[in-house]
Amino acid sequence: MLVAFSSIVLAVPLPNTASQEPTQTANRTVPAAPHFVVYGDEWISGENGPPDVSEIKGYNVFALSFLLASGPVDQAQEWASLTDAQRSSIKAEYKAAGISLIVSAFGSTDAPTTSGADPNKTADMMAQWVKQYDLDGIDIDYEDFKAMESKDSEAENWLISFHKRLRTQLFKGQYIITHAPVAPWFSPNPSWPGGGYLKVDQEIGPLVDWYNIQFYNQGTSEYTTCTNLLTTSGGAFPNSSVFEIAAAGVPLDKLVIGKPANAADADNGYVDPSTLAQCLEQAKSQGWDAGAMAWEFPGAASDWITTVRSQAFPL
Ligand SMILES: *[C@@H]1O[C@H](CO)[C@@H](O)[C@H](O)[C@H]1NC(C)=O
Ligand SMILES: *[C@@H]1O[C@H](CO)[C@@H](O)[C@H](O)[C@H]1NC(C)=O
Ligand SMILES: *[C@@H]1O[C@H](CO)[C@@H](O)[C@H](O)[C@H]1NC(C)=O
Repeated sequence: MLVAFSSIVLAVPLPNTASQEPTQTANRTVPAAPHFVVYGDEWISGENGPPDVSEIKGYNVFALSFLLASGPVDQAQEWASLTDAQRSSIKAEYKAAGISLIVSAFGSTDAPTTSGADPNKTADMMAQWVKQYDLDGIDIDYEDFKAMESKDSEAENWLISFHKRLRTQLFKGQYIITHAPVAPWFSPNPSWPGGGYLKVDQEIGPLVDWYNIQFYNQGTSEYTTCTNLLTTSGGAFPNSSVFEIAAAGVPLDKLVIGKPANAADADNGYVDPSTLAQCLEQAKSQGWDAGAMAWEFPGAASDWITTVRSQAFPL
C-alpha cells in the first residue's frame, strides 16, 4: 500500500461514554469467495466513521487502515474513537448490506520484524483490539521488505508465529484473517532466500482465509496486462502471476487480485477498470473466482467495483 498520513483532527465526539451494552455473542461466519475488498486509510473531511454502505455497493469487505504495532492510525483510529452506540449502528448497516468490516495491520509505514516487535505480543494486542472494537477480522498488510530479504527467514517466521497466535483468539470460520503480500513475494526469487510467501503458505495456508495480493508498485510494466497479471508474469518477478502462484501450490480461490483505484493511488501498476474487468472474466473462465481488491476508497468507490465486476461478477 501507499500511505499518506494525514494530520488527524477527530471529527467525532469524545470520550466514549456508553460501554454498558452486552458483548456481542452471535456467531460470526467468514464469507466464501468471491471477495471484493476495499481499503480505507484516507481521512475524509467531515466524515464520522467508515463510508455509508451505499458508497461502497459492490464490495463485501471494507478494511479500516491501519492498526500499527504501536496502535491505531487513520481510519482505524477513527473507528476506535466512535462511541459503542455509533459503532454498533454502523456495524448493523454493514451487516445488513453483507459487508464485513475488518482492520488492516501494519501497511508500508510499519516494519514490525525489523523494528523488533514481538510477534506474540503484537498478535495478542491486535486480536484484543479486533474484539474490543467489534470487527469481523484482520488483514495483515505486512511490508517489512528488509526482513523478507534476510537469509534466515526472519519475515516468514515472524509472520507464521504472528498468524498462529492470532488464530488462538480469532478462530478460523469465525473471524476473517487475510494477508496482503506484494505479488513478487510469491515468486521463487533469490531476493527472498527465506522462502517468501510460498513458505508462509506452506506453513499456515489452511489458517489463512485469502490473500489480497498487491499486483502494483512493482515496476511500470509488471502486472499491467491480462497476460502478465494472470498467466505469465515474466519481467523481474517470474512465476508470480495468478495462475503461476496457484501452480506453485497456493489455492486459486484465495488469490484476490489487488489494484490501485487510479494511477495516483500507486507508483505504478494501474490498469483501468474496464481492462481489469476483462482480465477477471478471462480468469473466471479458467476456474478462478477469488475476487478483487482496491487500494483505496474514495478513489475506488462503488463505480470502480461495479465496472471491475461487470463481466465476471455483474451486480
Ligand atoms: C454458535 O456456535 C456454536 C458452536 O458452533 C453453537 O453451539 C451455538 O449455538 C451458536 N450460537 C448462536 C447464537 O448461533
Ligand atoms: C509465541 O508463542 C508460542 C506459543 O504460543 C511459542 O511457541 C513461541 O515460541 C512464541 N514465540 C516467540 C517469538 O516468543
Ligand atoms: C517457474 O515455474 C516453472 C514450473 O513450475 C519452472 O519450470 C520454472 O523454472 C520457474 N521459473 C523460475 C524463474 O523460477
